[in-house]
Amino acid sequence: MSDLLQKIKEKKSVISVIGLGYVGLPLAVEFAKVGFPVYGIDRIKQKVELLIKGKSYIIDVDEKDVKNVVGEKFFPTTDYSVINKSDCVLIAVPTPLQKSKDPDVSYITAAMDEVVKYLHKDMLIVLESTTYPGTTRELIAERISKYGYKIGKDFFVAFSPERVDPGNPKYNTKNTPKVVGGITGKDTLITRMLYEQVIEKIVTVDSPEEAEMVKLLENTFRAVNIGLVNELAIMCHRMGIDIWNVIEAASSKPFGFMPFYPGPGIGGHCIPLDPMYLSWKAKMYDYYNRFIELASDVNSNMPRFVLNKVSEILNKYKKTLNGSKVLLMGITYKKDIDDLRESPALEVYHLLKEMGALITVYDPMVNSFIDEKGEHRKVKVKKNISGNEVKKFDCVILLTNHSSFDYRMIAKNAKIIFDTRNGFKEIKSKKIIKL
Ligand SMILES: NC(=O)c1ccc[n+]([C@@H]2O[C@H](COP(=O)([O-])OP(=O)(O)OC[C@H]3O[C@@H](n4cnc5c(N)ncnc54)[C@H](O)[C@@H]3O)[C@@H](O)[C@H]2O)c1
Repeated sequence: MSDLLQKIKEKKSVISVIGLGYVGLPLAVEFAKVGFPVYGIDRIKQKVELLIKGKSYIIDVDEKDVKNVVGEKFFPTTDYSVINKSDCVLIAVPTPLQKSKDPDVSYITAAMDEVVKYLHKDMLIVLESTTYPGTTRELIAERISKYGYKIGKDFFVAFSPERVDPGNPKYNTKNTPKVVGGITGKDTLITRMLYEQVIEKIVTVDSPEEAEMVKLLENTFRAVNIGLVNELAIMCHRMGIDIWNVIEAASSKPFGFMPFYPGPGIGGHCIPLDPMYLSWKAKMYDYYNRFIELASDVNSNMPRFVLNKVSEILNKYKKTLNGSKVLLMGITYKKDIDDLRESPALEVYHLLKEMGALITVYDPMVNSFIDEKGEHRKVKVKKNISGNEVKKFDCVILLTNHSSFDYRMIAKNAKIIFDTRNGFKEIKSKKIIKL
């Protein structure tokens, strides 16, 4: 064990990061930047080829950083055999839901199918993918034990959840505290030592299950509170109260309140999915939670609420959704990023299309998307729009409040606006209707 600790301290331990996405790529680059030799393993050849050319496909990873380390300290590859030469393996593969909303851990299993071919003594494996409590022990530690290794003695296993917030200008991989929980105290110690080389603050817990639960608590907390505020927004709408003003004023309380904001639903790879991992696992213990299911229900009905609101608004102007020209502003799941995964805006698009609306999508962050619920065809997205073009729409719906939108120009030219994000907050106009 001391050998591995020493190697980590001297930044000589070889690291392999499996899965070079939103989580894995920043992590790999961060370790390479401080001098560790890092193999980045991804099964998508095109991603690996881009990285070898020094190109970044993740908005939070600076291309300059990739260029500086690639070929010197960072070696992207599709070849798992580099694990033979690796001391530390960090797994950051996707953990989606199946159609039945049960966890899909097949990506972790597939990564482990490869890793076990190259196991050796004094190796550390850390799982970073969000998952249900028990995954690290069941799918990684127990599997490795079958090869004769003693976890905590000649092999080390831990869970350390990724907390990256894509597009956040203040918090990045380096300054976001990292939680670590190993199978034994030694596994935690080694993992802590590794992350301390690149992350400012490490918080340790007593087991991988605790660390897995930390991540689920954080994201369930968000999903439930967003569900609550979405429900309050619907109530306020009926009562003629501006929810945004209410939240702003409530935020002046210096203790015991934290603002959450309503919107057209929740998206991304984390908030809509992670609570379902917890709810699924709890059922194995005969516990049927109510908060998670309720929040999921409220949040997933928000796109339909938007549809109904827009239909009401058009009705006032003696128009039907069928045949109306609608401009959707922002299609990504949150502002200032290019990620469309689980975006509620896509659901709004789909619902409007079903009703016969003639939709144009405007989003400077995206070129196109696949209409997965429709005919699976590529939908082109406008990256720019002029005032004259805006004038032609019967209704504009703001679904994602990118900072780069020219809100004044849109407000000046639009006939009517439904603002689901309070993006037009600086502009007072009767034609802007807020969620
Ligand atoms: N995106 C976020 O903001 C975020 C934040 C915190 C936690 N997480 C969690 O981190 C994990 C990864 O998420 P992500 O957003 O980075 O996903 P992603 O889809 O951006 O990246 C995953 C990468 O893994 C690769 N991959 C899949 N299977 C592989 C395999 N068997 N071998 C090698 N590569 C493989 C994919 O090609 C892809 O490049 C998930 O569990 C997610 O819930 C994500």
